[in-house]
Amino acid sequence: MSSSVSLDIIEQFKKIVGDSFVIIDEASLHQYGHDETEELLYLPQLALRPSTADEISQIMKICNQYKIPVTPRGAGTGLSGGALPHLGGVLIATDRLNKILEIDERNLQVTTEPGVITEVLQNAVKEKGLFYPPDPSSKGSCFIGGNIAENSGGPKAVKYGVVRDYVLNLEIVLPTGEIIWTGSNVLKNSTGYNLTQLIVGSEGTLGIVTKIVLKLIPLPKYDLLMLVPFKSLEKASEAVSAIFRAGFTPSALELMEIDALMIVSEEVGSSSVPVTPDTAAHLIIEVDGNHMETLMSEMEAIGELLLQFDCGEIYFADDHQQKNELWKLRRRVAEVVKKKGYTIEEDTVVPRAALPDLIKGVKALGEQYGFSAVCYGHAGDGNLHIRLNKPGIPNSYGNQEMHTILRELFVLVKKLGGTISGEHGVGLIQKGYMDVIFDPVHFRLMKEIKRAFDPNSILNVGKIFD
Ligand code: LAC
Ligand code: ZN
Repeated sequence: MSSSVSLDIIEQFKKIVGDSFVIIDEASLHQYGHDETEELLYLPQLALRPSTADEISQIMKICNQYKIPVTPRGAGTGLSGGALPHLGGVLIATDRLNKILEIDERNLQVTTEPGVITEVLQNAVKEKGLFYPPDPSSKGSCFIGGNIAENSGGPKAVKYGVVRDYVLNLEIVLPTGEIIWTGSNVLKNSTGYNLTQLIVGSEGTLGIVTKIVLKLIPLPKYDLLMLVPFKSLEKASEAVSAIFRAGFTPSALELMEIDALMIVSEEVGSSSVPVTPDTAAHLIIEVDGNHMETLMSEMEAIGELLLQFDCGEIYFADDHQQKNELWKLRRRVAEVVKKKGYTIEEDTVVPRAALPDLIKGVKALGEQYGFSAVCYGHAGDGNLHIRLNKPGIPNSYGNQEMHTILRELFVLVKKLGGTISGEHGVGLIQKGYMDVIFDPVHFRLMKEIKRAFDPNSILNVGKIFD
């Protein structure tokens, strides 16, 4: 594969997208060389900013003919390096495909382009009384197209499911330049292989998504939010599965180790959340629905149940502002603790009841290998983010010592019945551990699928697997 794009080909790109949307100067290319993954930086040879599927199709035909590596990119908020152009070549930015095309109120569906910010889409459907639940922490800046690529989740996944559960149909440009719709705008579909769901979570390796049809649901009228302190992280994690076993399904059930809350509160200058000195961790619990009285009695019953787990005094976020404040603290954890040296983030997921064992194992590994870890995340899903800090090791990718640590972590995760990534994807930085989870048969199938879509091996090659 050639990673060098000739001047003649660059001229052809200029004719397709227009001169000003071909970026070749190094200073401007920097913004396309990184995402939110650790400290990694890879510059593409050039970046293109097309505005239609047809332009992307023309670009792909040229890249396919000359076997030029192509990396698709959304907003660059990814945490596994999926959008990093590690082979150079052409980067295709989707930021100009940024229109919400139709909100179909009769069928509760929305059709959108991929470069729409997730929260913008959520707010647009909310105005019609509709709800698109998946809400990654980066919802204020990430693109819905990137969410499709990584099959993102977020706090609401515990009740409402992940991105995959809302995707009905996709228009994609294949690596060969052909354009297809993957399915139909219907709620049930048993018609052949499900290409739509194959594309969701395929991390931009099989095609470039150019239109998305999403299912919507009615917006729940009310929600209640509480913050519950625990004296031990383990007790907090044990309480999680008990809540579901008792018959409750919160609309969010998040865990935050105390270090995470303290670091983020200090960074944003917030003292609105009361913290007692003996607190080791908090659960953030939200319930939602259309009947306030039901929600209130549900919250009360959950609070009573949690007394069995030695919880401290519960803090209720009373109004909109307090709720926003608490969610803001939770959403900013990753970004803030990264600045404090916790550069490496894992996205482990285990069956919910195995969460206490995972947390114990993480802490034991930390003692053995001399790293500190801050645990937080979507406890209700068994999806634990683990932020690691080992002075002198800023990256996990390519670092031998960190590689040994992470391999042990993932072996533990696998032993507990879990897997490497719940919502961030494998991308560049986790592919070295895929053999912990999959055997050669899985790899053979995945590679054959890749070959069927991308016979010349040009699209986001070296992501998920080599
Ligand atoms: C979060 C992102 C990092 O949960 O997934 O904050
Ligand atoms: Zn998360």
